Amino acid sequence: MSIEAFKIIGGKKISGELSVEGAKNAALPIFVATLIEKGTYILKNVPNLRDIVTLTKLLESLGLEIEKLSNHSYKIVNTGLKSLEASYDLVKKMRASFLVMGPMLAHEKKARVSLPGGCAIGSRPVDLHLKGFEALGVKINIDHGYVEGETAELIGNKVVFDFPSVGATENVIMAAVKATGITIIENAAREPEIDDLCNFLVKMGAKINGIGSGRLEIEGVKKLYPCEYSIMPDRIVAGTFIVASLMFDGDISVKGVVRDHIESFISKLEEMGAEFEIEGDVLRTKTKLSQLKPAKATTMPHPGFPTDLQSPMMTLMCLVDGTSEIKETIFENRFMHVPELNRMGANISTDANMARVTGIKNFSSAEVMASDLRAGASLVLAGLLADGETIVNRIYHVDRGYENLEIKLQALGANIERIKVEI
Ligand code: UD1
Repeated sequence: MSIEAFKIIGGKKISGELSVEGAKNAALPIFVATLIEKGTYILKNVPNLRDIVTLTKLLESLGLEIEKLSNHSYKIVNTGLKSLEASYDLVKKMRASFLVMGPMLAHEKKARVSLPGGCAIGSRPVDLHLKGFEALGVKINIDHGYVEGETAELIGNKVVFDFPSVGATENVIMAAVKATGITIIENAAREPEIDDLCNFLVKMGAKINGIGSGRLEIEGVKKLYPCEYSIMPDRIVAGTFIVASLMFDGDISVKGVVRDHIESFISKLEEMGAEFEIEGDVLRTKTKLSQLKPAKATTMPHPGFPTDLQSPMMTLMCLVDGTSEIKETIFENRFMHVPELNRMGANISTDANMARVTGIKNFSSAEVMASDLRAGASLVLAGLLADGETIVNRIYHVDRGYENLEIKLQALGANIERIKVEI
């Protein structure tokens, strides 16, 4: 059997502009939200990613008709749901599939959804999602790996999360928009992708107050109206490209940056000595890599330092003289890229959820493996700097979260190609 890998001949100067696509983590819940109300939706600025293809298959199995109109826009027609079951085969590929539960409950008061799979970065339970549904009056039963939910009527209530889970917040919002009465979500996640989902729902006629805050107030309405919506730019891809820009001494600029969305990340880089110029949505780096100083970063829910930028940041820290530290507080097992970076000559040691990174002069080329999508992109960046040939295996992870990464890098002059390797 063969799988795809990237072959990179690094050590070459690259320069130009990298353009950020629409946000995967906003597109996924917004696609799912079209389950809530019948009608025709047009979604724009949708990234071309494997996760979107996976979700499309799942939504089609539930009865939606999905047509790709052009490179980044889709027409979704909801004429009613054919099935109320999201099967293991489709859900296991991507944890975000579990988000269909809230909209199905809103639409049909009933759903059967397989417990999710997803990245190998920890156990990732769904207890908070279920706690939220139960508060709205849903009777939950777990049977043979499936979550079954049913109610005669969704009734607004207060939902207090122990932890601001992104997925649980989205799922409960989508269940609550057509519930009877008012739902209050306390300790809601505040990630910008949640604002994007709320703005989409508001455009459909939902009543949501407190968008952007940790307290959301949702007044259920009887009917929503399909609409046209353009997805926000991907702040995690933007952050990854900013790391590339720093690694290449500012020879790369990044288009599609909204500073507010990644303020904690950009300010951490500034604390390390980086200087940026942002004109409109284009970011230029004014600093050389050798000018950066070590730092300490701790991942936190938004507006804290995003866990999804932990591996790109660590890859950058590998090249910063001195010792940096990263503490991961969101996911267990999210240091799986460490042994791979160490194979490329990095000097990183870990103790539980702490990583100590001692700077090296440069990466050395090696054969490595992507453990998740962000880590995969980080290994690609390391490979671009390393002299010689680097092979990054398991790039299906990278394809889940970065659109045409190798094509974008080839346009900057990078020597990177997609190859097939036998396993
Ligand atoms: C989303 C993002 C992912 C990002 C993460 C944190 C999408 C599609 N994915 O994932 O890229 O890394 O936010 O910013 O948007 N938890 C529970 N019980 C639950 C739900 C979550 O214990 O019911 C725990 C998880 O195991 C994890 C933490 O909460 O340790 C964060 O999870 P959550 O915020 O829900 O992340 P996701 O929505 O899965």
